[in-house]
Amino acid sequence: MTFQEEILAGIPAQLPEAQPYDKEINHAPKRKDILKPEEKVLAIKNALRYFPKELHQALAPEFAAELKTYGRIYMYRYRPSYKMYARPVDEYPAKSKQAAAIMAMIQNNLDPRVAQHPHELIIYGGNGAIFQNWAQYRLVMQYLATMTDEQTLVMYSGHPLGLFPSHKDAPRVIVTNGMVIPNYSKPDDWERFNALGVSQYGQMTAGSYMYIGPQGIVHGTTITVMNAARKQGGSPAGKLFVTAGLGGMSGAQPKAGNIAGVVSVTAEINPKAAQKRYEQGWVDELHTNLDELIPRIQKAVAAKEVVSLAYVGNVVDLWERLAADHIHVDLGSDQTSLHNPWAGGYYPVGYTLEESKEMMANAPEAFRAAVQKSLCRQVAAINKLAAEGMYFFDYGNAFLLESSRAGADVLKADGTFRYPSYVQDIMGPMYFDYGFGPFRWVCMSEKPSDLQKTDELAVKVLSEMAAHSPEEIAGQMRDNIHWIQEAGRNNLVVGSQARILYADCEGRTKIALAFNEAIRKGDLEGPVVLGRDHHDVSGTDSPFRETSNIYDGSRFTADMAVQNVIGDGFRGATWVSIHNGGGVGWGEVINGGFGMVIDGSEDSARHIREMLFWDVNNGIARRSWARNEAARFAIEREMARTPELKVTLPNEADEDLVRSVIPSEASVSQTKI
Ligand SMILES: NC(=O)c1ccc[n+]([C@@H]2O[C@H](COP(=O)([O-])OP(=O)(O)OC[C@H]3O[C@@H](n4cnc5c(N)ncnc54)[C@H](O)[C@@H]3O)[C@@H](O)[C@H]2O)c1
Repeated sequence: MTFQEEILAGIPAQLPEAQPYDKEINHAPKRKDILKPEEKVLAIKNALRYFPKELHQALAPEFAAELKTYGRIYMYRYRPSYKMYARPVDEYPAKSKQAAAIMAMIQNNLDPRVAQHPHELIIYGGNGAIFQNWAQYRLVMQYLATMTDEQTLVMYSGHPLGLFPSHKDAPRVIVTNGMVIPNYSKPDDWERFNALGVSQYGQMTAGSYMYIGPQGIVHGTTITVMNAARKQGGSPAGKLFVTAGLGGMSGAQPKAGNIAGVVSVTAEINPKAAQKRYEQGWVDELHTNLDELIPRIQKAVAAKEVVSLAYVGNVVDLWERLAADHIHVDLGSDQTSLHNPWAGGYYPVGYTLEESKEMMANAPEAFRAAVQKSLCRQVAAINKLAAEGMYFFDYGNAFLLESSRAGADVLKADGTFRYPSYVQDIMGPMYFDYGFGPFRWVCMSEKPSDLQKTDELAVKVLSEMAAHSPEEIAGQMRDNIHWIQEAGRNNLVVGSQARILYADCEGRTKIALAFNEAIRKGDLEGPVVLGRDHHDVSGTDSPFRETSNIYDGSRFTADMAVQNVIGDGFRGATWVSIHNGGGVGWGEVINGGFGMVIDGSEDSARHIREMLFWDVNNGIARRSWARNEAARFAIEREMARTPELKVTLPNEADEDLVRSVIPSEASVSQTKI
């Protein structure tokens, strides 16, 4: 069968050949054996729903074996026989160009160069799934290949509910991931629902087909490292940045360290993950021996080298050694997957990777205790180095949250964390409140020349804007222009021809309109997909990350993210998605995003203007209502430009007046006495 025929066939009528388990591929860890026997029966019945009855005899025992061996039913046999990567959009069998672009985005996410555990359909973050099993993938591709611009595909956590009649301005796909009743949103609920095949953890861009490999995160990480270094004063040259993780997103850290001009050391326990980043040129040197690594670090710092070193081992061993040797560390963080601490996101010190995996599956309570002990040791070493001058920040992976739950010494007397999150100190006040966020695009021609042209257009647009940007955002504009000028030279593309660029509402809109015009004139050889990380101004309600700099008590609400997706849906998005979980963990965050295919048409120009405006200003308006000064500035500026925009602005209360009407704790206790 050709590639096109295999897509159109969907789930084949005949049983495909079983495929050998490929040991060369990075596989997802075995998931917890959480289902009771009756629930296992249900899981297998659920899986068999995708197949004609005559195949059940053969498939039932196979699915039972997968459930036993891996804790999930992936339906490995149904992995397609063609190579997985994004083709130029014209190569897809499709009646709708928009649907074809979505097919390319899905295949890019599953490309083994891009995905973390491609055969288990896990894109990044250890459990960030695009689909739950290969039957869902096959059905979705078949639906996309046959749908028209007057239908909408409805996706429930990887499962295609079906095609429903709609209209050409409606989204082609609506995705929900992990939407459960709030009281059933504990980590074990995810394990159970996912094992039953009825829900999945979509992370942010994994379950929304918008992941573009580690580049997606390099820009944000560069901005963070650069500004963290600036906070320490002086030039970044010779500053030492220590962190962990060379996985999906965390793998961006060494590259960002190099772009920011520091010496970075990243610990990674999984040799396969470290080797992958080394081969891709994302980290300069791999070290397995701390006795050799420490002098290498000292040499690099003394010579102010711009270099990224990896320690292939446990990060706790690295931190403890640095603390014992009193090495001066300027910047510290951690990007292990602590949003998923009990199922392979964090490997405890003192155990090999294999021992940990074994314990995780067969002795989950002992594994949990080992993780908590390891976190306590990690925090103790970090505290020592912080006392010697290191600036440590949480990288939005729930490091502080899980460490505090583990009983580590990470809380101040008032119960708040000893260390800030990168959003509280940097991304929130300097970027999100002004509307700057991780805008991205993918060239559907898959031609590097198209990507280069889009980079040039973006530089032109931003340079024109920067000439009259207000002082409040002049620095951000400069950093973003520098980024996009250097982006091509930094060889950031893994998989599709994609680019990320932090921009505000004006920047995103003008850049997108410039692309649309270039497509119309034929300067670009294909349509472009616009999108963003969910980690943005408006897309995500996450009290310990994106909305951690919201101080009016509303950071535990999720109205903004839900409103955002609804609003994008009727203003021209080609697909929208809303997820429970992502980044900091299941039950800890609600996040949403969009994808928009632009093709040079007037409809595309209208979608760009209407949808991007809402997609950014929703969050700025909410941040302004929370009394964030930068957001107030940004929304007033937008209202001056756009007469139809009318946002409710907060009145500031006098602090002394308010305090005078509420008895202080001291006077309350005095009254009691
Ligand atoms: N980069 C960002 O901007 C950003 C933003 C927000 C949150 N995050 C968070 O960062 C975390 C990492 O994301 P990811 O996609 O890279 O996940 P990932 O699972 O692909 O990578 C994490 C890596 O950490 C390694 N690791 C785990 N425990 C270790 C230990 N004790 N010592 C050394 N290495 C260890 C794992 O082997 C893995 O390769 C996630 O929780 C994510 O939500 C990243």
